[in-house]
Amino acid sequence: MRKDHLRPLFRETKVDLDDLIMPVFVDENITKPKEILSMPGYYRIPVEGVADEVGRAMELGLKAFILFGIPSYKDEIGTSAYIENGVIQKAVRAIKKDYPDAVVITDVCLCEYTTHGHCGVVRNGKILNDETLPILGKIAVSHAKAGADIVAPSGMMDGMVKAIREALDSSGFEDVAIMSYSAKYASSFYGPFREAAESGFKFGDRRSYQMDFHNGDEALREVELDLKEGADVVMVKPALAYLDVVRRIKERFRVPTAAYNVSGEYSMVKAACINGWLEERSVVYEILVSIKRAGADLIITYHAKDFAKWVNEGSL
Ligand code: PBG
Repeated sequence: MRKDHLRPLFRETKVDLDDLIMPVFVDENITKPKEILSMPGYYRIPVEGVADEVGRAMELGLKAFILFGIPSYKDEIGTSAYIENGVIQKAVRAIKKDYPDAVVITDVCLCEYTTHGHCGVVRNGKILNDETLPILGKIAVSHAKAGADIVAPSGMMDGMVKAIREALDSSGFEDVAIMSYSAKYASSFYGPFREAAESGFKFGDRRSYQMDFHNGDEALREVELDLKEGADVVMVKPALAYLDVVRRIKERFRVPTAAYNVSGEYSMVKAACINGWLEERSVVYEILVSIKRAGADLIITYHAKDFAKWVNEGSL
């Protein structure tokens, strides 16, 4: 290892562009890309621009995209999440028309579509798990109809994977896969996303449905349940403060495991780099390698496009 040209031969971990999933925020209310203030360098994209955005990323070698929608209309039960001409449904059709080979993943949740901003139906200040399930099924089917390859329920409702699997199968979408946000922690690292997706909640917090960050064993129980219900990919979120959880899940279940390198993790790196305190390329590379080394097969990351550029330039 004392010689530079030997070290690459013995590298245990590699980050491949095939492993990365790029998040795309699609906004129905804008006509040109709009920068997200708390996520420097990241933009909301209008529906009309989403296919081109995906096309540019595919030219760099990225293949998979996860879509989040900002709708023009919200109500108490998130109706605009499953209408045929909803923001995500339009975006998926536009992408698939121009880029049928793009892997299109859709976030299945209510928080961006409800006036109260919670991930489930609310009554008397309580989030109602079971009443939310059929709505999640409807959202998933509407995304599948538009052409989504994978649906990704992120609301942490109990039984959501089963409800979605049954809804998809009974509508003829047996081939649409489910990537479940199985171990999603109630985390302060989602702050910038809530600005990006306008999904902040109007009261309370998400601790009655997202996981308590003091717990690790619970993540294994959550994953086990999701796998029994039919999840094809399980996810840990956020990534960096939870690499121990990624490792435990991968070792225990040996199933495709994704880690979500979330908005707050991106913003911290960006802020430090803009100030000249950290060097972006090497820090991002080290972060992505660490997530893979922990055992993740897939990484959802806002750094995907920059990383792909650096790979193409050979500048890492
Ligand atoms: C919605 C959802 C959230 C994220 C992905 N899907 C936010 C939340 O639960 O509040 C966060 C992603 C990020 O921070 O990058 N359920």
